[in-house]
Amino acid sequence: MGWHFHPDSWGKGYAPEAAAAVLDHALHRGLPSVVAVTNPANAASRRVCEKIGLQHLGSTDRYYNTVCELFSVDNPAASAGAGMP
Ligand SMILES: CC(C)(COP(=O)(O)OP(=O)(O)OC[C@H]1O[C@@H](n2cnc3c(N)ncnc32)[C@H](O)[C@@H]1OP(=O)(O)O)[C@@H](O)C(=O)NCCC(=O)NCCS
Repeated sequence: MGWHFHPDSWGKGYAPEAAAAVLDHALHRGLPSVVAVTNPANAASRRVCEKIGLQHLGSTDRYYNTVCELFSVDNPAASAGAGMP
């Protein structure tokens, strides 16, 4: 998942609020995990990841042909098989 807001809307808490809602939706729909990556220097985006409960897994070069910080959360319901077809 990712987020990109108009600068006029920065600093008002909209990104964590919206991202938390999307994450909640994704997990309730049964996705096994959700990941986000940020530029290492993007402190605001890293903070959004932390605020919505994503775990920091370190650096990765698997995305966008550059080094990113990787954040992820696993869906306990999906890994337990609960509610899955
Ligand atoms: C990243 C982005 C989505 C954040 O959206 P936002 O609605 O302004 O988020 P918030 O106002 O809730 O700020 C998020 C947190 O980062 C913190 N933060 C903001 N700017 C910061 C900075 N320069 N350094 C450290 N922390 C910062 C805020 O204080 C807040 O944490 P807190 O609630 O603990 O105080 C927004 O800045 C944006 O759209 N940027 C351009 C696109 C982008 O970089 N997207 C991410 C690509 S990975």
